[in-house]
Amino acid sequence: MDDGSDSVETSIGMLRKLRDSGVDLAVATSHYYRWDEDIDSFLERRSEAIGKLRPHMDASCAGIVPAAEVAFYFGIEEDPKLGGLCVGDTKALLVEMPFAPWGTYEMNALSSLCFGRGFAVILAHYERFEEYQKNNRIYEEILRLPLTVQINAHSLLTGRGAKKWLRMFEEGRAHLIGSDCHNLTTRPPNLAEARQILRQKAGEEAVRKTDRRAEALLLGEKP
Ligand SMILES: [Fe+2]
Repeated sequence: MDDGSDSVETSIGMLRKLRDSGVDLAVATSHYYRWDEDIDSFLERRSEAIGKLRPHMDASCAGIVPAAEVAFYFGIEEDPKLGGLCVGDTKALLVEMPFAPWGTYEMNALSSLCFGRGFAVILAHYERFEEYQKNNRIYEEILRLPLTVQINAHSLLTGRGAKKWLRMFEEGRAHLIGSDCHNLTTRPPNLAEARQILRQKAGEEAVRKTDRRAEALLLGEKP
C-alpha cells in the first residue's frame, strides 16, 4: 500500500510475529494522503491488498482490521467521505498531524471532528511531533480534547524522551502503544518489548488500561 510491507510474504511474516507476541488483531493503518489520492480510490486499493493477503493467512497470523493513518489535510473536518477511513466499521480515526508547528486551525479541526462529527480521534505517534512544536502551547493544549493519544513502541524503548512518554501513560495522558511496524527488518513489530517496559515502569494496571482503551475503540465506544 505504501512504504510498509513490500510483499505478501513480508506481510504474513509480520502478522505471524504479531501473533507470536500476543496480538489478536492488527489494526492495519496504511498511510492515506489526501493530496495524492481520493478516498474512494484508496479504499479500493486497500480492499484489493487485503484480498491478496487473506488466502495466505492462517491461525498463526494476527487478524487484520482495515484502517488508515490519515495525514491531516486542509478541510479534513468537512470531508463527507472521511468515515470510510475509520478503524473497521467504528468511528475511530487515526490522524497523523502535520510535521510543522500546529496552530488554531489544527486545534479547531480536531475539535470539529470530535464534537461536531462524533469521531473518536486517535493522534498517531504524538511524541514524534515534539521537535516541531518548540514553545508551542497548542502541543499541550490539544490534549484537552477527548482524544486518544498513541505513542510508538520504539519511543518507549529508546532515546532520552522514553521516560517522559512512559510518564504520560502513568498520568493517563497517553492511551495506546503503536507498533508503527513497516517490515521485518528496520521497523519490525515490537509491541511486546514496549509493553514489558510499560509494565516495569508504570505497573500492570497501565498495560491493562491500554488494552481496555484499544478494546473500547474496536467496539465503537468513544473516550
Ligand atoms: Fe506516521
